[in-house]
This record gives sequence, C-alpha cells and structure tokens, in this order.
Amino acid sequence: MSDEQDLAFETLLNYLKQSWRIDFTGYKRPTLMRLMKKRMQRVEIGSYSDYQDYLEANSVEVDYLLDALLLNVTTFFRDPQAWEYIANEIVPRILEAKPNNELIRVWSAGCASGEEAYTIAIILAEALGEEEFRRRVKIYATDLDEEAVAHGRLATYSSRELRDVPDELINKYFDQSKTVCTFRSDLRRDVIFGRHNLVQDPPISRLDLLICRNTLMYFNAETQARVLARFHFALNDTGFLFVGKAEMLLTYTNLFTPFKLKYRIFAKLPKGKLRDRLLAIADAANTEVGHH
Ligand SMILES: C[S@@+](CC[C@H](N)C(=O)[O-])C[C@H]1O[C@@H](n2cnc3c(N)ncnc32)[C@H](O)[C@@H]1O
Repeated sequence: MSDEQDLAFETLLNYLKQSWRIDFTGYKRPTLMRLMKKRMQRVEIGSYSDYQDYLEANSVEVDYLLDALLLNVTTFFRDPQAWEYIANEIVPRILEAKPNNELIRVWSAGCASGEEAYTIAIILAEALGEEEFRRRVKIYATDLDEEAVAHGRLATYSSRELRDVPDELINKYFDQSKTVCTFRSDLRRDVIFGRHNLVQDPPISRLDLLICRNTLMYFNAETQARVLARFHFALNDTGFLFVGKAEMLLTYTNLFTPFKLKYRIFAKLPKGKLRDRLLAIADAANTEVGHH
C-alpha cells in the first residue's frame, strides 16, 4: 500500500467522521480497507479519493458503505460448546452470587440482529423457569447498526436462521407461522434493544454477564483498551466477560483474568484486588527508600 493511498484513506475516514459523524478512526486499517475496497468495486471506483468525491455527491452511498463495513454476520448458539459452558458453568455461578432473587443483568454488545441476545435469553429461561426469568432477568442488546437493531427488536427469524436451535427449543420459545418464527413476546419484554456505539457511548452498568463477541476484533489496540476499561467498570465484581472464539484480551490484562480461556470467558478482577496489588507494590517501594 503506497503512502499516498494511506493518506487518501485517512482523509476519507476524517471526512466520514466530520461530515457524517461516523467514526471509524479507531478501527484496524487492513480489515476496513479490505471491506471498503469491496464496496468500491461494486460501484466501479478505483481510488479512495475518487470514492470520497462519489460519497460527497451521493449521500445514499453512505448507507451502503456502512452496511459494507459493519459485518452483521451472526447465528444462534454461535460456537455451541462455549454456550454449553455458559449454561453449565457460568449461569449457575451468576445465580449463586445472587441469593436474594436479585435482578440478573446481561448485555449483548455488538449484538447484530439479536441472535446472541435470544440465545442467552433461552439459556436463562431454561435455568430459571419462565416466571422467574420474567421477574428477574434484563438483557440489553445493542449495536451501532440501526437496521440490525430493528431486526433484533422484531425478533423474527427464518427457519434457516434458526438451524442451530434444537427443535424442542424452537417449539418452546418461538411463535411459528408458515414462513417465519418469532421469539415469544411475553419473554421478549425483558430483552431490550437499542443503538449504542461502543467507541463513544457510556456502557450499560451493574452487569453480571457481558457478551461482546466478534466485535472488539475490528478495533485497534488503543480503542480495545478503552472499551475494555469501560467493560470493567460496567461489570459487577462477580461478573463475567464472554468474547469471540478468535479474540484475545491482549491489553488490560490487569482488569480481567481468564476463567475459561478455551471459550474466551473472563472474570473481572475487582478494583479492590487491583488496588491491593498496587498498594503492595507502593508499600514495597516505600520500604526500600526507608519511608516505613
Ligand atoms: C460480526 S458481528 C458480531 C455479532 C455477534 N456478537 C456474534 O458474535 O455473532 C459484529 C457487530 O459489531 C457491530 N459494531 C461494529 N462497530 C461497532 C461499534 N463501534 N459499536 C457497536 N457495535 C459495533 C457491527 O454492526 C456488527 O453487527
């Protein structure tokens, strides 16, 4: 990639940020460039600066570009073994930490069309029973992509989209028409969809489980670190963070500790522990210089 092309690309990102309030500057360049090139080929444009001119002249193109850059690919029970582990090992721990029928709060961040949010809804309804689920569970499902969020809120999926859900669970949790299935409305009330930008917006807080899968990987290290610091704040001390199969928390290892690395499930390191550790280090340093 030539410097000139890099420069034209950065100019285009700044244009999107300033004119459209779409900020992709914290995203990894190779992925972004690959996705944008694909879209440019569709409209037969070769250079980033020509594409910027095209965007300036055709505002609808901005929507197409957004669609191309935000990959909404998702499925129910994506990585089934990891979800099995969540159902068998993590959910019981979450319930144990809440002996007094307290609320259970979950956030599916970067939820795309909602499959992940309904997956955890099914798991929690199976664990608690429907009545207790309705009483105690709040699941927040957010994404930057408005259309995806609208799809999730509608909760309507084709049988193809439901292919990874066992029949017995489809029958139990979905209303079925000839062509589509819709997640039951009485349970859907506790799954709340909204538009939320992980890079800019304050997090949803007091969480027991934060699911953010196959989304952090689009961010550069600095942005990931910023988002992870917010996630740390957003979780209860006994909370868990569940990320995608191919994702590692390279930055901020002092905020989370692997709970089941194979399935990318992390436990929050409570602030107290972190503070204790820092104090211990400070103490040791003070002792050395004779302040004690
Ligand atoms: C590949 S999908 C992951 C869907 C689901 N979590 C899964 O793992 O199956 C990535 C999602 O991240 C969303 N996304 C990208 N940047 C985002 C941001 N800054 N804030 C919130 N969501 C974002 C995209 O719109 C897309 O729906």
